[in-house]
Amino acid sequence: MLRKQVGPGFAQIAERYRNDAAAPSRLAGKIQGGSVGTWGRVIMPRQSRVTDEEAKALAGWVLSQPQP
Ligand code: HEM
Repeated sequence: MLRKQVGPGFAQIAERYRNDAAAPSRLAGKIQGGSVGTWGRVIMPRQSRVTDEEAKALAGWVLSQPQP
Protein backbone atom coordinates (compact mmCIF):
# COMPACT_ATOMS: atom_id res chain seq x y z
CA MET A 1 0.00 0.00 0.00
CA LEU A 2 1.29 3.46 -0.86
CA ARG A 3 0.87 6.02 1.86
CA LYS A 4 2.71 8.96 3.34
CA GLN A 5 5.31 8.06 6.00
CA VAL A 6 7.64 10.91 6.99
CA GLY A 7 7.14 12.59 3.66
CA PRO A 8 5.33 11.65 0.49
CA GLY A 9 6.68 8.80 -1.60
CA PHE A 10 8.34 9.77 -4.85
CA ALA A 11 5.65 7.88 -6.79
CA GLN A 12 2.98 9.92 -5.00
CA ILE A 13 4.78 13.15 -5.87
CA ALA A 14 5.14 12.10 -9.52
CA GLU A 15 1.43 11.24 -9.62
CA ARG A 16 0.33 14.59 -8.16
CA TYR A 17 2.39 16.68 -10.60
CA ARG A 18 2.09 14.48 -13.69
CA ASN A 19 0.38 17.22 -15.74
CA ASP A 20 2.05 20.21 -14.13
CA ALA A 21 4.56 21.76 -16.53
CA ALA A 22 5.94 24.05 -13.84
CA ALA A 23 6.63 21.18 -11.42
CA PRO A 24 10.28 20.43 -12.35
CA SER A 25 11.60 23.90 -11.52
CA ARG A 26 9.31 24.39 -8.52
CA LEU A 27 10.29 21.07 -6.96
CA ALA A 28 13.98 21.69 -7.66
CA GLY A 29 13.60 24.86 -5.58
CA LYS A 30 11.92 22.92 -2.79
CA ILE A 31 14.62 20.26 -2.76
CA GLN A 32 17.17 23.00 -2.12
CA GLY A 33 15.08 25.25 0.09
CA GLY A 34 12.98 22.73 2.00
CA SER A 35 9.22 22.45 2.10
CA VAL A 36 6.32 22.30 4.53
CA GLY A 37 2.55 22.47 4.24
CA THR A 38 2.08 20.94 0.81
CA TRP A 39 1.56 17.38 2.07
CA GLY A 40 1.22 17.94 5.79
CA ARG A 41 2.83 19.60 8.78
CA VAL A 42 6.15 17.73 8.69
CA ILE A 43 9.08 19.75 7.37
CA MET A 44 11.38 18.58 4.62
CA PRO A 45 14.72 20.13 5.59
CA ARG A 46 16.56 22.36 3.14
CA GLN A 47 19.73 21.07 1.48
CA SER A 48 21.90 24.08 0.91
CA ARG A 49 24.80 22.08 -0.49
CA VAL A 50 22.71 20.73 -3.37
CA THR A 51 23.53 22.81 -6.46
CA ASP A 52 20.94 24.15 -8.92
CA GLU A 53 21.97 21.53 -11.42
CA GLU A 54 21.76 18.68 -8.88
CA ALA A 55 18.36 19.89 -7.67
CA LYS A 56 17.06 19.89 -11.25
CA ALA A 57 18.33 16.34 -11.78
CA LEU A 58 16.76 15.17 -8.49
CA ALA A 59 13.41 16.78 -9.35
CA GLY A 60 13.46 15.12 -12.76
CA TRP A 61 14.24 11.78 -11.16
CA VAL A 62 11.42 12.09 -8.62
CA LEU A 63 8.95 13.11 -11.32
CA SER A 64 10.00 10.23 -13.58
CA GLN A 65 8.70 7.59 -11.15
CA PRO A 66 6.30 5.24 -12.88
CA GLN A 67 2.62 5.26 -12.04
CA PRO A 68 1.98 3.15 -8.90
C1 HEM B 1 16.98 12.68 -2.23
C2 HEM B 1 16.34 13.24 -1.19
C3 HEM B 1 15.01 13.90 -1.30
C4 HEM B 1 14.35 14.38 -2.40
C5 HEM B 1 14.81 14.41 -3.85
C6 HEM B 1 13.07 14.89 -1.93
C7 HEM B 1 12.09 15.45 -2.74
C8 HEM B 1 10.86 15.91 -2.31
C9 HEM B 1 9.85 16.51 -3.14
C10 HEM B 1 9.98 16.76 -4.65
C11 HEM B 1 8.79 16.81 -2.36
C12 HEM B 1 7.44 17.41 -2.81
C13 HEM B 1 7.27 18.88 -2.44
C14 HEM B 1 5.95 19.43 -2.96
O1 HEM B 1 5.02 18.67 -3.28
O2 HEM B 1 5.83 20.68 -3.09
C15 HEM B 1 9.11 16.39 -1.00
C16 HEM B 1 8.29 16.53 0.11
C17 HEM B 1 8.63 16.18 1.41
N1 HEM B 1 9.80 15.58 1.82
FE1 HEM B 1 11.39 15.19 0.62
N2 HEM B 1 12.98 14.71 -0.57
C18 HEM B 1 14.14 14.12 -0.15
C19 HEM B 1 14.47 13.78 1.14
C20 HEM B 1 13.68 13.96 2.24
C21 HEM B 1 14.08 13.66 3.60
C22 HEM B 1 15.43 13.10 4.01
C23 HEM B 1 13.01 13.97 4.40
C24 HEM B 1 12.87 13.86 5.87
C25 HEM B 1 13.83 14.12 6.74
C26 HEM B 1 11.98 14.47 3.54
C27 HEM B 1 10.75 14.86 3.98
C28 HEM B 1 9.76 15.40 3.18
C29 HEM B 1 8.50 15.92 3.70
C30 HEM B 1 8.04 15.92 5.14
C31 HEM B 1 7.79 16.41 2.58
C32 HEM B 1 6.43 17.10 2.58
C33 HEM B 1 6.68 18.59 2.69
C34 HEM B 1 5.44 19.44 2.51
O3 HEM B 1 4.38 19.06 3.00
O4 HEM B 1 5.54 20.52 1.88
N3 HEM B 1 12.41 14.46 2.24
N4 HEM B 1 10.38 15.85 -1.00
